[in-house]
Amino acid sequence: MEKKLKVGVLGATGMVGQRFISLLENHPWFEVVTVAASPRSAGKTYEEAVGGRWKMSTPMPEAVKQMVVMNVNEVEKVAAGVDFVFSAVDMTKDEIKAIEEAYARTETPVVSNNSAHRWTPDVPMVVPEINPEHFEVIRYQRERLGTKRGFIAVKPNCSIQSYAPVLTAWKEFEPYEVVATTYQAISGAGKTFKDWPEMVENIIPYIGGEEEKSEQEPLRLWGKVEDGRIVKAESPVITCQCIRVPVLDGHTAAVFVKFRKKPTKEQLIEKLVSFKGLPQELELPSAPKQFIQYLEEDNRPQVSLDVNFERGMGISVGRLREDTVYDFKFVGLSHNTLRGAAGGALLCAELLTAKGYIQAK
Ligand SMILES: NC(=O)c1ccc[n+]([C@@H]2O[C@H](COP(=O)([O-])OP(=O)(O)OC[C@H]3O[C@@H](n4cnc5c(N)ncnc54)[C@H](OP(=O)(O)O)[C@@H]3O)[C@@H](O)[C@H]2O)c1
Repeated sequence: MEKKLKVGVLGATGMVGQRFISLLENHPWFEVVTVAASPRSAGKTYEEAVGGRWKMSTPMPEAVKQMVVMNVNEVEKVAAGVDFVFSAVDMTKDEIKAIEEAYARTETPVVSNNSAHRWTPDVPMVVPEINPEHFEVIRYQRERLGTKRGFIAVKPNCSIQSYAPVLTAWKEFEPYEVVATTYQAISGAGKTFKDWPEMVENIIPYIGGEEEKSEQEPLRLWGKVEDGRIVKAESPVITCQCIRVPVLDGHTAAVFVKFRKKPTKEQLIEKLVSFKGLPQELELPSAPKQFIQYLEEDNRPQVSLDVNFERGMGISVGRLREDTVYDFKFVGLSHNTLRGAAGGALLCAELLTAKGYIQAK
């Protein structure tokens, strides 16, 4: 790319916002030119606004330290200086819906980490390796919004990334019933052990709203574009329990599957390791070379050994074996703030750019 696209990060001071800032440091296509957050942070330098809240393991990039934080709610002002924005603000669902649409209407594409628009019929919710064809609905969304270049695209919830890619790789064997339990890291709630000490040596069997997302969102990924909207798939049925565990980064899922066309274990592994998508074909900057790895050792995948596979953008699978009640069971692992949040959104933005949906203003 000749000239880098100018990017704004909405919610830049939060956990996911910080992840965007770190991932965008030295990005070959995108350059952060604007950081925005709540009115509490507006007017301060990024370094002052974040203060002791920097949660990344790498230092705050020098290029953003002295940037003055803008107020997310001053839409025209923020939008004026950027080609597109990443959204990671924490507001009410209705507020997020409204503000993301307001940015789109200023002809500023919004690539969002938030759940507010995941079920808006003409908003694509995409994992680039799974359903890039859903970007087709952007045409209809632009008609509704009355925009030429502005639109909203979202990525799905972090919890599904440890099993939805796996089930997609096995599509031809027609999985029709899935039982999953997720063991989810505390960074998924925007927390570290320092600010959530109750989680040390603890398990909490409840994550608000997570089970419905984990059961329903994969069906939308597997849905079809019909009459300018995404119509979700009906199968497989998925039932899920979501449990918070004392892990900093990395969501694990233990999953049982029934297939209409029962495969062999060897066939299943072959489909996993050969599964590729557009990001790999186009060699997008954040694409993992190997999307899914299969680990033969009985004690893998482990969070501490495998969460950073392919810089946190790959999925690790292990313990695939036949089951006495279901056909097969397995364990999956993905990085919840990389593949599951900022990294997944960044990969969406790269594909949107490669496909011409995002361009310089
Ligand atoms: N953490 C994850 O792994 C994860 C994964 C998927 C999705 N999400 C979603 O992503 C969003 C951000 O999550 P997070 O964990 O990064 O949250 P967070 O650490 O609490 O950060 C929230 C960000 O939103 C800003 N903000 C809060 N209230 C605002 C307001 N009234 N107006 C404008 N800006 C406001 C904050 O600015 P100040 O610093 O000025 O307060 C901050 O920049 C949430 O909707 C969350 O559900 C998170």
